[in-house]
Amino acid sequence: MKTYTLVSGNEMPAVGLGTWRSNAGEVEQAVKDAILEVGYRHIDCAAAYGNESDIGGALEDIFKTSNSSDNSESTGMVVKREELFITSKLWNDMHDPTKVEPALMKTLSDLRLSHLDLYLIHWPVVSQASSDGGDVLLPLEDMPIATTWKAMEACVDKGLVRDIGVSNFSVKKLHLLLETARIKPSVNQVERHPYLQQPELVDFCNKHGIVVTAYSPLGKGARYRGTDAGSLLDDEIVAAIATKYGVTPAQILIHWGAVECGVIPKSTKKHRLQENFESVSKFAFDNDDLSKLTAINKNHRYVDGTAWCGDESPYTLENLWDE
Ligand code: A2P
Repeated sequence: MKTYTLVSGNEMPAVGLGTWRSNAGEVEQAVKDAILEVGYRHIDCAAAYGNESDIGGALEDIFKTSNSSDNSESTGMVVKREELFITSKLWNDMHDPTKVEPALMKTLSDLRLSHLDLYLIHWPVVSQASSDGGDVLLPLEDMPIATTWKAMEACVDKGLVRDIGVSNFSVKKLHLLLETARIKPSVNQVERHPYLQQPELVDFCNKHGIVVTAYSPLGKGARYRGTDAGSLLDDEIVAAIATKYGVTPAQILIHWGAVECGVIPKSTKKHRLQENFESVSKFAFDNDDLSKLTAINKNHRYVDGTAWCGDESPYTLENLWDE
């Protein structure tokens, strides 16, 4: 499997398993299938996905089987902790520096791990519990990323995490972070696929040794079928290239994503876990395929950030994406 070398020297496998919207009832089996049956070594998690304890259950079982002298019950591979690359993310209500390590400890406890490979600031968005039990959004100036970052760096110093990074960050926000960071961000995880190619962001990251990981590389699958945005899986160019190589549209999208970046397609279906994992090794693009895919960019976000914007919010789409 292709890997990317991070700031720590740790290798991140190019294709990982996304777990956003993986239901608690399905994700445990999906993680076991992915790791033991298919060969995934990179699992992308987040506290906000609400399923880390289920994923932790799967990891515990995997390591128990692998550590046991009797592997007769195991149908698949023997996999040790050090062979896996596990990511999680700090949620918006935990940016206060006193909350960063406790948030990480909760994730570690849920995942049944002693350390993470990568911990990301999930969004450049700060929220705080309000007296009515809800959440209130605070401007970034009230809790600057630089302050949260220092607490993230302390988690590296303590050996709780090997690499730290961010998610949903623009060039402008990365630039600002690099001015004060003692430990450089290893990864910027963003939505990326042929409808949202973000060449300037990828170039900036490449220049600064920051690996981009693409979430929603399938444009969130078939959910947008019949909407104005349309489903990427139905794109005619993608379909034609898939036919040319005798592969599926999903394999074209994942292969494209992994040319320059990490990719974390989500699935809980075993046949798709296999299909997605094989995407990188199954064929090679020629220049004509790449130009055709470059031409279908629409700068379209399926995850547009409107959840953080509204009348009462300090966030707007302009100041969130800096576009
Ligand atoms: P499922 O979990 O039922 O397989 P993204 O990673 O871009 O957010 O896309 C995830 C969505 O795409 C999920 O709905 C997932 O459904 C679906 N999906 C994952 N892999 C494939 C595939 N190979 N072909 C079609 N749809 C897929």
